[in-house]
Amino acid sequence: MKDLHFENVRREYESKQLKRSQMPDNPFEKVTEWLQEAANNPKVLEPTAVIVCTSTPDGHPSSRTVLLKEFLNGEFIFYSNYESRKGQQMKENPHVSLTFLWHELERQIHIEGEVRKLEPELSDEYFKTRPYKSRVGARISPQSHPIPNRAYIMAEFVKESAKFLGRAVPRPDNWGGFAVKPVRIEFWQGRESRLHDRFLYQKEDENKWSCERIAP
Ligand SMILES: Cc1cc2nc3c(=O)[nH]c(=O)nc-3n(C[C@H](O)[C@H](O)[C@H](O)COP(=O)(O)O)c2cc1C
Repeated sequence: MKDLHFENVRREYESKQLKRSQMPDNPFEKVTEWLQEAANNPKVLEPTAVIVCTSTPDGHPSSRTVLLKEFLNGEFIFYSNYESRKGQQMKENPHVSLTFLWHELERQIHIEGEVRKLEPELSDEYFKTRPYKSRVGARISPQSHPIPNRAYIMAEFVKESAKFLGRAVPRPDNWGGFAVKPVRIEFWQGRESRLHDRFLYQKEDENKWSCERIAP
């Protein structure tokens, strides 16, 4: 096996800065601003990609990327299979973290909070907006569970597609939204010499957040 050395893979971050005067009392204003900037920047390939970290009740973590679909009333919404590995872990332990990383903007946001299942009506609404094939795919994929081979899942897909041809594809009960309500939000802006700007918000009560600069 070959050893790898990445000592020389190194970039300076110097395109932007973050000042105390730019940090609003309510961190959701900054979340909205950064998400919109990422979404409007054609250089950012997956502006809504977010890494979701879950863990078992005894603290074994796992993480994966999903796509944020809504930011509603201060909650981050993504969609997945409720019986997947992440779905199972979130059922048993609602404490999760989310990380948005926008390399192109030298920015990231770290979020910690509690997750809940989204109201079924809202999941239905979103499901209807998905392309036909994605709706069928959600119905037949036993996400995270072993399958014999690719031919198996393709055959299931073809069978299910034929069943709903020309009709509405209903959302399966095991698929829907998750809503994450944050208690901690950190904004990170890369700066020169690794002296990055970081601002940490922590929720004090329903309408009040503390905000402090933390060391890079
Ligand atoms: C860019 C990107 C976006 C993804 N978006 C989603 C998503 O929105 N929902 C989802 O269930 N999986 C999504 N996936 C797949 C997940 O990363 C993961 O493989 C899947 O949800 C199973 O995770 P689990 O076995 O840990 O539950 C995405 C993967 C990538 C790379």
